[in-house]
Amino acid sequence: MAFIQVVLLVLIRQVLSDTSSDYTTQCPARCDMLKEVDTLRGEMQVLRQLLNQESLLRMSLDQQVQSQKMIIQNMENDLDVLNRTTEIENLRQLLNQESLQRISSNQKLKNELDVLNRKTEDARSALSQRDNGTIAFTVSTSSALSNHNNRRIIYDKVLTNSGNAYNNITGIFTCPAPGNYVFTWSTMSRSSSEYCYAYIYHNNTQLLMSHGYGGSYNEVASNTIVLLLSVGDMVWIQTGTCRYNYGYPYTAFSGWKI
Ligand SMILES: *[C@@H]1O[C@H](CO)[C@@H](O)[C@H](O)[C@H]1NC(C)=O
Ligand SMILES: *[C@@H]1O[C@H](CO)[C@@H](O)[C@H](O)[C@H]1NC(C)=O
Ligand SMILES: *[C@@H]1O[C@H](CO)[C@@H](O)[C@H](O)[C@H]1NC(C)=O
Ligand SMILES: *[C@@H]1O[C@H](CO)[C@@H](O)[C@H](O)[C@H]1NC(C)=O
Repeated sequence: MAFIQVVLLVLIRQVLSDTSSDYTTQCPARCDMLKEVDTLRGEMQVLRQLLNQESLLRMSLDQQVQSQKMIIQNMENDLDVLNRTTEIENLRQLLNQESLQRISSNQKLKNELDVLNRKTEDARSALSQRDNGTIAFTVSTSSALSNHNNRRIIYDKVLTNSGNAYNNITGIFTCPAPGNYVFTWSTMSRSSSEYCYAYIYHNNTQLLMSHGYGGSYNEVASNTIVLLLSVGDMVWIQTGTCRYNYGYPYTAFSGWKI
């Protein structure tokens, strides 16, 4: 409004100054002036309308700018979210790589530990074998063998069984470590023809024999063998005909690693 008033004033002044020379002398001049004022009024009206339109236009433009700004803001927000998502994705990949590296280095450590554990176990086993001395046993039968024919002798009385290679239930020695072994056994047959044959077996092979034949007195018989054994090889004593053989402490079966 102020702007319009100023324009109006300026225009009026202009008209007044342009016509000031004729103002006091002629009516037609004054009348013209009045007409011109009317014209000006009309123009002012037009101007006012124009101004109204212009402010409407400005308002609409303002609104458009405002909504455009909001769109941009939204896009920026979206971009921000997108950036964050990308950042999170990058971080996740980084973490994945790191945890993969960690897993692989853990695996390496675990493998090293396994190797160390195995070495320790081997060393302990070697040490225990050495500390226990050689594999060695001496066993006997707690009672006499009477008519014990063609059967394995179960020496049930265990005096020594270092390394536990002799089984007191089956009567079989099972080789736990490869090498040379000495085996010796003895029988004592009762007098009056109560003889006893005893063989040593390596797996199913019959090897040396002892033969006691009691005549006027009881008779002791024995034999000794050295066998080169592999792990799992079995050794035992088995009788042929054995009519009467005294038990502990006369009869025995011993073996040891050399
Ligand atoms: C998105 O990331 C790019 C590159 O890292 C950066 O130039 C831009 O400014 C970021 N935009 C926002 C909205 O954070
Ligand atoms: C040595 O003795 C230990 C403890 O009694 C036993 O666990 C280990 O089996 C023995 N080693 C041998 C070879 O007999
Ligand atoms: C016979 O062997 C079993 C099992 O190995 C054992 O428990 C038992 O003590 C042994 N008997 C003797 C008399 O050594
Ligand atoms: C003896 O028998 C055991 C058990 O069957 C077997 O592992 C081993 O190889 C045999 N040894 C020989 C010399 O035949």
